[in-house]
Amino acid sequence: MRAAFDLASGEKGRAPVIRLSSGYDMPVLGLGTYSLRGKTCVNSVRAALELGYRMIDTATYYGNECEVGRAVRESGLPREEIFVTTKLYPSEFGRAERALDEALSRLDIGYADLVLLHHPGPGEAEAYAAIERAIAAGRVRSVGVSCYYVREIDAFLPSAKTPPALVQNELHPYYQDCGPTAHIQSLGIPVQAWYPLGGRGWAHKLLADGVLADIAAAHGKSAAQVVLRWELQRGVLTMPGPSNPAYMAENLAVFDFELSGKEMARIAALDRGEKHDWY
Ligand SMILES: NC(=O)c1ccc[n+]([C@@H]2O[C@H](COP(=O)([O-])OP(=O)(O)OC[C@H]3O[C@@H](n4cnc5c(N)ncnc54)[C@H](OP(=O)(O)O)[C@@H]3O)[C@@H](O)[C@H]2O)c1
Repeated sequence: MRAAFDLASGEKGRAPVIRLSSGYDMPVLGLGTYSLRGKTCVNSVRAALELGYRMIDTATYYGNECEVGRAVRESGLPREEIFVTTKLYPSEFGRAERALDEALSRLDIGYADLVLLHHPGPGEAEAYAAIERAIAAGRVRSVGVSCYYVREIDAFLPSAKTPPALVQNELHPYYQDCGPTAHIQSLGIPVQAWYPLGGRGWAHKLLADGVLADIAAAHGKSAAQVVLRWELQRGVLTMPGPSNPAYMAENLAVFDFELSGKEMARIAALDRGEKHDWY
């Protein structure tokens, strides 16, 4: 059973949402903030919110929760309109309750919409239970995991009282990871792509791929838009992480065209099993 979302259902200029198993809605496309720091991060998140983004992905590891929280507070938007994800790093699993308190206080936006275990690791079940307790206390709304593939998710699930609302994994046309993605989706858990454009330092090479350029030209779109649309049409949520506001606007404009079955198949054929990070 795959958690479904309707790509034609969004308001104009906004990403459609998916209903998570926690009962909360999350936009299917958001902004990643992995390499955004300091003022650049505050300005980028503010620019994204002004453009219509309503989902922001951060992590304690990124060192920018304060800046993300500040941009959310300064946006003037109602808190409930914005979906903020953060993550606990494995080195924090042994002190998860305290680490979560610290993350929430750095964010300073009342609650986190989603908290993920950033990677599998010793103490993961206890850290996950700490997030479940924070949900019961109204400080977090949903819980999930990141970098869990078939072995990891199957080993982890029996220890979880609440099924993960989401799994976040590396996915892009050169690393499509179809088997593990289908496995996680078959459990009814949505999968969200990190490095959706291949990741910083890799994106320019991926986006220069002739097949993507060819499909992009046919739709009057950019190669980045084709990649994001392909990911969404295969049922995967996404969150590219540009710092350039022109790219942010471009990446959100992927709900007004559709790739054909043949185009989807051409992109599927680009898979090289080429992972761009170790985890
Ligand atoms: N859970 C995990 O373990 C994990 C790991 C890695 C990342 N993540 C999350 O996933 C998010 C996305 O990953 P990412 O930001 O590293 O990689 P990405 O979105 O795949 O790639 C970012 C790169 O793509 C460029 N770019 C973005 N939009 C573009 C466009 N329309 N046209 C041309 N180039 C474009 C950016 O350029 P500019 O900077 O010049 O704008 C930047 O160099 C992260 O920000 C983070 O939130 C999670």
